Amino acid sequence: MALLDWTRPDNAFRVEGEGIRLRPPKPSDYLEWRDLRARSREFLQPWEPVWPSDDLTRAAFRRRLGAYQRDMDLGQAYPFFAFRTADDALTGGITLSNVRRGVAQTGSVGYWSGQPFARRGHTLAAVKALTGFAFRTLGLHRLEAACIPTNDASRSLLKKAGFTEEGYAQAYLKINGVWRDHVLFGLVSPLDGNRRSDEF
Ligand SMILES: CC(C)(COP(=O)(O)OP(=O)(O)OC[C@H]1O[C@@H](n2cnc3c(N)ncnc32)[C@H](O)[C@@H]1OP(=O)(O)O)[C@@H](O)C(=O)NCCC(=O)NCCS
Repeated sequence: MALLDWTRPDNAFRVEGEGIRLRPPKPSDYLEWRDLRARSREFLQPWEPVWPSDDLTRAAFRRRLGAYQRDMDLGQAYPFFAFRTADDALTGGITLSNVRRGVAQTGSVGYWSGQPFARRGHTLAAVKALTGFAFRTLGLHRLEAACIPTNDASRSLLKKAGFTEEGYAQAYLKINGVWRDHVLFGLVSPLDGNRRSDEF
């Protein structure tokens, strides 16, 4: 990954976490992203929407980045790739999506880890970093997340990140081609209710 990606002035959103840093995806990430996703396909597919047949092509990646940019311009979503601080290796991704302002001030968190980087604390660090970004930088009041009940990794990660299990939604998202029930999680900003910003 080019060093320039970290120094360009257009790098508006950069978030530091424990052992990782987050920034929006760039065209120069393509090959590393494609290789990591391809290597991790069997690990990820059971928990994600079906990958379109051209998903890993450069053209699809370009379209993906275009959609990301439009979402960021509208303040509707903030997609990030996670890089290991030690060597700038791409470890996975995390997105704050469905940002709703007005009376809600809420967003949804979704994430994935490349299989070679799993169970090393990187996604937990990414979720904590994104939480700080959402509450401190964006001023959101609440975050939501959801996972399939049998996704022990995701369920446990959310609890470790401070989220609370709040409910259960039937046939909530179409995952790997099937409408799957999900456990719903929420986290209210500790900044609301006179709590200090150094609590997360
Ligand atoms: C869920 C996922 C993102 C976790 O990423 P990760 O980088 O491996 O997670 P971390 O290393 O940060 O783990 C943090 C905590 O999550 C839990 N966890 C992670 N992997 C776990 C596993 N395989 N089994 C049980 N708990 C697990 C643990 O509590 C862990 O803390 P610990 O290692 O101190 O016990 C990853 O497993 C993944 O990408 N899975 C496939 C896609 C997916 O499920 N996406 C989310 C859909 S809701």
